[in-house]
Amino acid sequence: MDKLLIAGGRPLEGEVRVSGAKNAALPIMCTALLTESPLKLTNVPTLIDVRTMAKLLAQMGVEVGAQSAGENEGGLELRARAITNPEAPYELVKTMRASVLVLGPLLARCGRARVSLPGGCAIGARPVDQHVKGLQAMGATISIEHGFMNARAERLRGAKIAMDMVTVTGTEHLMMAAVLAEGTTVLENAAREPEVVDLANCLRIMGAKIEGAGSDVIRIEGVSSLAGAEYRVMPDRIETGTFLVAAAAAGGRIRLTGAAPGSLAVTLAKLREAGARIQTGDSSIEIEMSGRPAAVSAITAPYPGFATDMQAQFMALATIADGTAQITETIFENRFMHALELQRLGADITIHGNTAVVKGIERLQGAKVMATDLRASASLVIAGLVAQGQTLIDRIYHLDRGYEALEKKLGALGARIQRVN
Ligand code: UD1
Repeated sequence: MDKLLIAGGRPLEGEVRVSGAKNAALPIMCTALLTESPLKLTNVPTLIDVRTMAKLLAQMGVEVGAQSAGENEGGLELRARAITNPEAPYELVKTMRASVLVLGPLLARCGRARVSLPGGCAIGARPVDQHVKGLQAMGATISIEHGFMNARAERLRGAKIAMDMVTVTGTEHLMMAAVLAEGTTVLENAAREPEVVDLANCLRIMGAKIEGAGSDVIRIEGVSSLAGAEYRVMPDRIETGTFLVAAAAAGGRIRLTGAAPGSLAVTLAKLREAGARIQTGDSSIEIEMSGRPAAVSAITAPYPGFATDMQAQFMALATIADGTAQITETIFENRFMHALELQRLGADITIHGNTAVVKGIERLQGAKVMATDLRASASLVIAGLVAQGQTLIDRIYHLDRGYEALEKKLGALGARIQRVN
């Protein structure tokens, strides 16, 4: 199993290009199920989760082209001429929850679907009740048998759906189901994440009628069919934020290109509060940091609030900050696993319910640690970059699910980081 070995203590200097957003690419890939015509995507990141989604779509009968990198910047062509097997097996859904997103599109296109329940997840219970309730409100019959959701619908009907909580994939799922439904669907308490807007933009190019994406009420007027599209996936705001926090922790000056600064307002504000100097262009962000960061507290919230996917990275920053930070997690009930690993590096963290109190210390000490989930792994990499001596991170397959060439990109910025086997 691959591990990452980091020798800490070097500032970061240089330029890297941000990859396409994992959390936008995955739902956008599912839109291929909604049309017989080709969907030609660019800026799709090369990641295990993208490969898993491609595998899932391929076993349903979708023709999946080879993913190209380099000049084509992650080109990927998908074509669902016919869907031969509207099923998502447990093996694929359990490794990637976003797999449940195929249920609605399959129902809309084939009138039936059989999708495994995702089950538990390392960062919390993460049920899919809102997805199921929404599809039922649109006329689907869904029964749960032997761990599978068996769904049927002649044709989905538009409905007014008020979601109990803000759910990102729930909003995306119901939006995809509604585009081919009969009549109008109104999603209330919708997620406002930029990835929801990116999905809506792609669907619109395919001919869908969607208004309000990016606000908490989305209105979708169903159409009878959709065309293919060419679409460029938005930049990954979490990857961007991770590099920015890494630079704020390690010090130095880096420039990120191919980014979407507008999607990172709170992250940038928090980094400025920590003492970083930041300049943004249309698609670039430059950060410069010298000295110890100031302690910055944060409470996670749905977009445009402080992202739960940035919480672990900011906790790593707080471990070496001047002062005490309080970090509160409100979205997932079990998302502090990285705190225990950071403690192995010497961090002073106390957990009180859903709040971590982090007392900054001068220096972390390198040690062997274990990655427990995707963003937790990123926080350990950041901690490793600033720790004295060597840090060895085990179970980095979590990182490979969501960060494209992380060690290469950090290496290009001068970090001493290598993959070992
Ligand atoms: C997405 C992101 C993930 C991010 C999260 C929150 C993708 C592929 N993943 O995950 O990186 O951390 O948003 O920004 O885009 N909930 C229910 N019932 C449901 C759905 C959700 O109770 O039917 C709860 C969840 O357990 C959680 C909260 O709602 O407590 C938010 O979850 P949600 O926004 O759905 O997260 P994901 O879409 O799974």
